[in-house]
Amino acid sequence: MSTPSADTMKREAAQAALAAVTPHMKLGLGTGSTAAQFVDLLGARVQAGLKVICVPTSERTRAQAAALGIPLTTLDDLPELDLVIDGADEFDASRRLIKGGGGALLREKIVAAASKRMFVITDATKEVKSLGAFPLPIEVDRFGAQSTQLNIERTARGLGLIGPIIQRRNKNQTPYITDGGHYIYDCSFGAIDTPELLAERLAAIPGVVEHGLFINLAAAIFVAGAQGIRILGNAI
Ligand code: A5P
Repeated sequence: MSTPSADTMKREAAQAALAAVTPHMKLGLGTGSTAAQFVDLLGARVQAGLKVICVPTSERTRAQAAALGIPLTTLDDLPELDLVIDGADEFDASRRLIKGGGGALLREKIVAAASKRMFVITDATKEVKSLGAFPLPIEVDRFGAQSTQLNIERTARGLGLIGPIIQRRNKNQTPYITDGGHYIYDCSFGAIDTPELLAERLAAIPGVVEHGLFINLAAAIFVAGAQGIRILGNAI
């Protein structure tokens, strides 16, 4: 069997998760190329008459969903959601994730925490034994960012994690700024043996707005691969 293209797998995962969407659901819409496939498919269902109300996790997703006519609101008006569907940069067998490659990790985590369930749509190439092959994104307040970076470095070293911490930049070399107005630092620590502990320590650093470790959030992961869709966790 030939391996399907990355786009095909993303579409298949998005399609599988769409089956969980029922009329009048309050949905969170993720960010990234896989989540964008889901938004496209959802847009077609909305145009065919499905009634849902959605909160996007980024300005990018907001623009895409609005163009498709998907009804949108904010967490201020709708603070509790039924389900968020989002992609991931990496996941492990315990459904722990690294997210933030697309720069939307803060809103993604807030929306996930506001949702009864989080379904992740992804492909098998993103499954790892230990998180950390993908550089961990950390969102940092602009004030004192260099001090915060040093603090992140010291904190990681305390857990035996050593590696480059690089400020994310745009193509023209200007600092990348998130929708929330913060910087992102991408941390190439390599295998993270104790993600829970790292998550706790990073969250305690002043100036760290949020980190890309998503733990105990994903109820199910829809993994597209050559054999079709495999579901990790509980999608019911
Ligand atoms: C956005 O900030 C990210 O968390 C994305 O959800 C994640 O990077 C997955 O993106 P792709 O579907 O484009 O790989």
